[in-house]
Amino acid sequence: MPHERSSAGAGPAPVPGGAALLEVDNVTLRFGGVTALDGVSFTIRQGEIFGLIGPNGAGKTTCFNAMTGIYRPTDGEIRFTGKRVTGLRKYEITSMGIARTFQNIRLFPEMTALENVMVGADAHHKTSVLGALFRLPRHRREEAQGREKSLRLLEFVGIRHRAGHVARNLSYGEQRRLEIARALATDPKLLCLDEPAAGFNPAEKEDLLQLIRRVRDTGVTVLLIEHDMRLVMGVTDRIAVLEFGRKIAEGTPAEVRDDPKVIAAYLGVPADAA
Ligand SMILES: Nc1ncnc2c1ncn2[C@@H]1O[C@H](COP(=O)(O)OP(=O)(O)O)[C@@H](O)[C@H]1O
Ligand SMILES: [Mg+2]
Repeated sequence: MPHERSSAGAGPAPVPGGAALLEVDNVTLRFGGVTALDGVSFTIRQGEIFGLIGPNGAGKTTCFNAMTGIYRPTDGEIRFTGKRVTGLRKYEITSMGIARTFQNIRLFPEMTALENVMVGADAHHKTSVLGALFRLPRHRREEAQGREKSLRLLEFVGIRHRAGHVARNLSYGEQRRLEIARALATDPKLLCLDEPAAGFNPAEKEDLLQLIRRVRDTGVTVLLIEHDMRLVMGVTDRIAVLEFGRKIAEGTPAEVRDDPKVIAAYLGVPADAA
């Protein structure tokens, strides 16, 4: 297996193995005077678990928002399976195969766990509004399939027994899992998780890592945003590190962990003093 260098700056690192799935190409994103992303490039390969880490305010969530059509980059472009996604609408990007969860949980609190997942599965249905209104056979069939699939996904994330409970009555950890099930219901090629373990204790974090590995084993590529560097070390294949909107390192977990720039970013001291 080719060894990767830990590369800083805008240049994309050499990418061994699987085909490029997501390419972030020299993306800059400004909010007024704030440059949230500054010439950021990285490539996620099919089948890997890729970590995007960095201190608070580094630009991680902004990067997700640019990838999923919430913000449009000021400069640069993002490609998914070779096709440009910058400028597309959220639902178009979802149907291309990118799904995400949010740093702050966004569920429908008064709907059941099952219904929350079925909303995701619905995105793929082909029947029209009229078909749904008149409950045409095709619609009934799709609804039944959506229900089956959603129950399987609840099982997969470990909360099948909570299917009939309204989301707001689920524990915090169950809600995090429910969000993952809902994202998976859109049949993504790439699942993006924004700090999915925030607020978890160590045992819950370990359980979540197991789940992330199982997601990948089903053939879904995973992009994991995480603030806690130790958490990503055990699960990711490669990591890119952001600080103040710039990519300061990229490489294997071991390469990134030993990089003085990364250590300095996390300790909040200049690189030469770390
Ligand atoms: N909608 C917005 N308007 C203005 N500034 C924003 C907005 N979203 C993010 N930012 C700024 O962009 C920077 C990166 O934020 P963010 O991507 O949320 O960081 P992270 O997820 O790494 O903690 C921060 O300085 C933040 O205040
Ligand atoms: Mg964030």
